[in-house]
Amino acid sequence: AAEPDLRGRHVVVSAGGTREPLDPVRYLGNRSSGKQGYALARTAAARGARVTLIAANATLPDPAGVDVVHVGTAVQLREAVLKAASEADAVVMAAAVADFRPATYAAGKIKKKDGQEPEPITLVRNPDILAEIAGDRPRPGQVVVGFAAETDDVLANGRAKLERKGCDLLVVNEVGEAKTFGAEENEAVVLGADGSETHVPHGPKEALADTVWDLVVPRFT
Ligand code: PMT
Repeated sequence: AAEPDLRGRHVVVSAGGTREPLDPVRYLGNRSSGKQGYALARTAAARGARVTLIAANATLPDPAGVDVVHVGTAVQLREAVLKAASEADAVVMAAAVADFRPATYAAGKIKKKDGQEPEPITLVRNPDILAEIAGDRPRPGQVVVGFAAETDDVLANGRAKLERKGCDLLVVNEVGEAKTFGAEENEAVVLGADGSETHVPHGPKEALADTVWDLVVPRFT
């Protein structure tokens, strides 16, 4: 059995990928399955934490002993994470959040018009939930962890993102059409704001999740 080193702690984990609707039948989305975030929720529960999992469009079974809140869009994810974060000791943002959403939502299905070019899609910025929580710390002293999904210059982009977001730890993983998204396994480098760098070799998403909690525990104040 796992060490109950998260007993008495409340942790919030986000998982899955947001979907930004264009009309009642279409959306802009991404390939996240939710598996990495669910692994974080399961391992935290096994280590004794009270866990709130904010799940964006994941179709995985709700983990036993975890409070699950299901959401769709980035705006809904923000609301649910902020609500739970106000009494959390740690917040881990494993969800793939859309940076932009369509500027308008068509109440009826968008139709193609004979002989006409398609209308361009105008996008507007979504709130940056991780940067907001890392900056404001809804509960003083809480530990804030982000993920970075990169396709190239993985470590250099990860370091810049850690600075920009202001979180304590950033889990940098490489993604591609068939890499990491939906897979059972992952590999990553966990960067610390204190300059630390922890390499996690290719293995089950639970193993990476446990390493994240190993790094969170000593950062509790
Ligand atoms: O779900 P799986 O199939 O298991 O795949 C796992 C994963 C690849 C989705 C996961 O390991 C991962 O990398 N999640 C983060 C994906 C992501 O959105 O990365 P990003 O580099 O675009 O964002 C950086 C961080 O800011 C993330 O913690 C993200 O949650 C957060 N963010 C991003 C945009 C935004 N508007 N608000 C945010 O809070």
